[in-house]
Amino acid sequence: MGASSLRLGVNIDHVATIRNARGGRHPDPVRAAHMAAAAGADGITAHLREDRRHISDGDIERLMGEITLPLNLEMAATAEMQAIALRHKPHAACIVPERREERTTEGGLDAAGQIETLKPLIGALTDAGVRVSLFIAADARQLEAAVALGAPVVELHTGAYCEAFIDGDQNAIDAEMAAITRAAAAGAEMGLEIHAGHGLTFDSVPAIAELPQIRELNIGHFLVGEAVFSGLDSAIRRMRDLMARARQAASGEQMA
Ligand code: PXP
Repeated sequence: MGASSLRLGVNIDHVATIRNARGGRHPDPVRAAHMAAAAGADGITAHLREDRRHISDGDIERLMGEITLPLNLEMAATAEMQAIALRHKPHAACIVPERREERTTEGGLDAAGQIETLKPLIGALTDAGVRVSLFIAADARQLEAAVALGAPVVELHTGAYCEAFIDGDQNAIDAEMAAITRAAAAGAEMGLEIHAGHGLTFDSVPAIAELPQIRELNIGHFLVGEAVFSGLDSAIRRMRDLMARARQAASGEQMA
């Protein structure tokens, strides 16, 4: 499997976070999306939260109208978000759990516990031609629920792995990696397309990129933070390069 089979979706939410800190128009997340495209991103990811703390309805409107890369709209399973997604029909929608008081998406979606609620939402999005993914923990029950719900894609939550990485807790890193490795293999075996994301950095991305079943990584906060020091273009190019190198090393291919 070549390195090109691992896509990078750049999440631009936190460009909007910085903009919203002053309430103006700068920095513009749509401009960041254009830069991400030029730097080699394969897609743009944006989370329209219920409280609109970063991405706004207007941003989604402009992203749909202005960018050529596929848009992956992260959304909670609510009637409001369903209506917005059906109006815009983005390339993909990733269903995420959302709690107002959380600082970021803290856990995976409990798909297994919400089959009846999620079924009509996933059906409506699929009928509209939107590819649905479920943001879940690396857990067999959740994978089975994704299959039962007819979701073609799952995104495995890498947040706990990344936190263990930052803490330097090798036991926790090993445990989280083992769970993600198992889930990636089991999910692919079940016919699911496997994505992963949350909290990934230059240091934590290689081990995830090495997993052959993973087809897409969605990365945002670290890239926007790193852009302060090196620029967005450079941060994205370095992330892409690390992903490609890890993938190629794992598959035994030569890299120039
Ligand atoms: N994937 C999903 C489903 C997310 O909710 C987020 C955060 O919005 C990300 C990936 C990106 O996480 P981070 O910004 O930590 O890279």
